[in-house]
Order: sequence, then structure tokens, then C-alpha cells
Amino acid sequence: MMQRPFAEMASIGVAVPPGILTNADLTRTLDTSDQWIVERTGIRERHIATPDQSVAMLSCEASEKALERAGLTAKDLDAIVMATATPDRLLPSTACDLQALLGADNAAAFDISAACPGFIFATAIAESFIASGQSETVLVIGAEKLSTITDFQDRSTAILFGDGAGAAIVRRKTGKNGRGILSTFLKSDGKLAPLLYRPGGGAADPISEKVVCERSQYMKMAGREVFKAAVLAMAEACDEALQRAGVSAEEIDLLIPHQANVRIIEATAKHAGMPMDKVMVNVDRYGNTSSASIPLALDQAITEGRVKPGSLLLLVAFGAGFTWGSTVIRW
Ligand code: ACO
Repeated sequence: MMQRPFAEMASIGVAVPPGILTNADLTRTLDTSDQWIVERTGIRERHIATPDQSVAMLSCEASEKALERAGLTAKDLDAIVMATATPDRLLPSTACDLQALLGADNAAAFDISAACPGFIFATAIAESFIASGQSETVLVIGAEKLSTITDFQDRSTAILFGDGAGAAIVRRKTGKNGRGILSTFLKSDGKLAPLLYRPGGGAADPISEKVVCERSQYMKMAGREVFKAAVLAMAEACDEALQRAGVSAEEIDLLIPHQANVRIIEATAKHAGMPMDKVMVNVDRYGNTSSASIPLALDQAITEGRVKPGSLLLLVAFGAGFTWGSTVIRW
């Protein structure tokens, strides 16, 4: 059997809408405070898209940056795998809209639904496509407009979420520089779906006056239960990705966890035995952007010089489903 790495993550690009919603803004309409939000979540502000800034448009901006940094054009892509919980339309996929915007005429394009670890699930699909010979160069996207499925009358969720997009080029590994995807771990537990879900608006309960009156098209979350499950799942995911890559936590240069809550991030780092100066945190600026959160954190880490060629990275995420996953990457 061929040995990993089959594929490398060649570049990243991100885009966020310019509009910012601060904690102070939220206190004007909700019974909450900046102090409560910062202490319980670490979030200070999040970016919110306007109605004319679509998921496909944000994704296109992020993708064009990733393509340019990899020295490629859209014509070089043979697959586009888009992770999103907030597609622009339910049919066709947002990946197809993105393909049209990019002019990626040679690609197969489709969406996947895996909530917050969507970027890790999509990266694993890209790697598998490359290992099987199906693809050579894959565009992986995590992009969300969570503001469209957030109930801004519900203080337990309204404070958490934001909008943004991240794109990565995953391509067949070239050269012998040690770069590449060294391991992946993916898992789900569908029994826990009702702890974080959108009850209405899908095929089970199509959009109707009742759905709108009950506000059931918006996310509902049992925060405390989700918190506990997230801490356990993120710990398992760290252990699995490290073990499968055959590396120890001490060898990891930077842990890049899903940015949902700084307390979950701290618990994950503690379990992995990693000091916080080896952990990327930017939840304060973006809130929880679901599938976009890991690429947004990775891009910032590269910009700040915390990720350099050869850096060993552990990416880990947890979300609705429940779903969780992790990957070790040599950058
Ligand atoms: N402002 C002020 N008070 C609030 C707010 C708010 N925005 N929200 C809740 N409270 C109150 C509650 O009503 C409760 O009051 P009570 O004690 O009088 O009943 C109190 O604060 C404590 O509420 P908890 O829900 O226990 O607060 P907790 O410390 O658990 O923090 C939070 C809530 C931030 C939601 C936390 O549970 C959390 O981060 N959970 C995980 C969320 C998560 O990661 N979700 C995303 C997964 S990713 C995905 O797939 C989208």
C-alpha cells in the first residue's frame, strides 16, 4: 500500500465581510453584557454579512487568494469540496455557484454537511480523492453565513456566531520535503443531533407560517451539554490524530482548534498537554464561524509568522451532528 503523505495543503485564503457586530451592539437588543460574553466565551466581536454578500461570493474571494498563493488558476482545479451549514440555496450546491464564479470549468463541485469540522471532513475527502487517483488538485472550502440561521432574539446563541470563508488548495504531494497531510480522524454520533440543530425549514418540516412563527428555522442549542461533549470529543480527536500520525504533542508546533469558545480551546490544550502559546486563538475577533473557523485561524497564524514551511500542525474541531475530527499536517 502507498504510504502517506499522498497530499499536501499548498495554500490558504480567507474572506470575511467588513461589517462587525460587537458585544456592545448585542446589548442594545438582548439581556446580556460584554463582560458575560467575554468571560463565558472569549468572543468580543464577529463579522456579519449583508444580504448581498453571499456564501459563494465570500468563498470566491477566499479561493482566488488561495489559488494565487499556490501559483494556480481556477482551470487547474479538478474538484471543489465545499463544507457549509448555510448554503446560499438548497439546490444546487453552493460549490456549483462558486465554480461558476471562479470559472473552474474542469472541476466536479459539491457541498458536504458536517457542521463545524466541515473543513477537516472536506480536507479528508480531498486527500482521499488524490490517494485514489480521482483528483490531482482540489479546492477545499469552509464558508458560512451563520447570521442567517441565528436567532437574534435568543441570547444563548445570538452571541456566539459569525460569518466568513476559508479556502485551501490540497494537491498531490510533490518533492521530498516532508510536507503533507500525515493523518486524519473523523467521527460522528447522530443520537445527539437534538442538542444542536435547526428543527424547521428542511424536508422534515418545510418552511411554512408555523415554522416562521415558532422561529424553528433557526439553530437551537443546549449549550451546557454541547460544551461537555465538545471537550470530550476534541480530546479524543487530538489523541487519535497524533497517534495515527505517529507524533507526540510535544512535536506539534501549533494547535489550531475550532474557534467556538475559549474555554473549550483551553480544555483541549490542557488535555493535549500543550501550553497556550502553542495554541491559535482568534475567537475574540470572529466568534464561531463553524466550517470557516479553522482556515481563518490558520491564515492568521501564517500571517503572524506562527506557521512556517515545515511547521507541524494539529487541527481539531467539533460540531452539530455531533461530528468531530482532526488532522496532523506538516506545512
Ligand atoms: N448573557 C447573559 N446571560 C446568559 C446568556 C447571555 N448571552 N446566555 C445564557 N445566559 C445565562 C443563562 O440563562 C443561565 O442563567 P441561569 O443560571 O439563571 O439559568 C446562565 O447564563 C448560565 O448559562 P449556561 O448555559 O450554563 O452558561 P455556560 O457557561 O454553559 O455558557 C455557552 C453558555 C457559552 C453557550 C456555553 O455553554 C458554550 O459555549 N457551549 C458550547 C457551544 C458551542 O460550542 N456550540 C457550537 C458547537 S459548533 C457548531 O456545530 C455550530
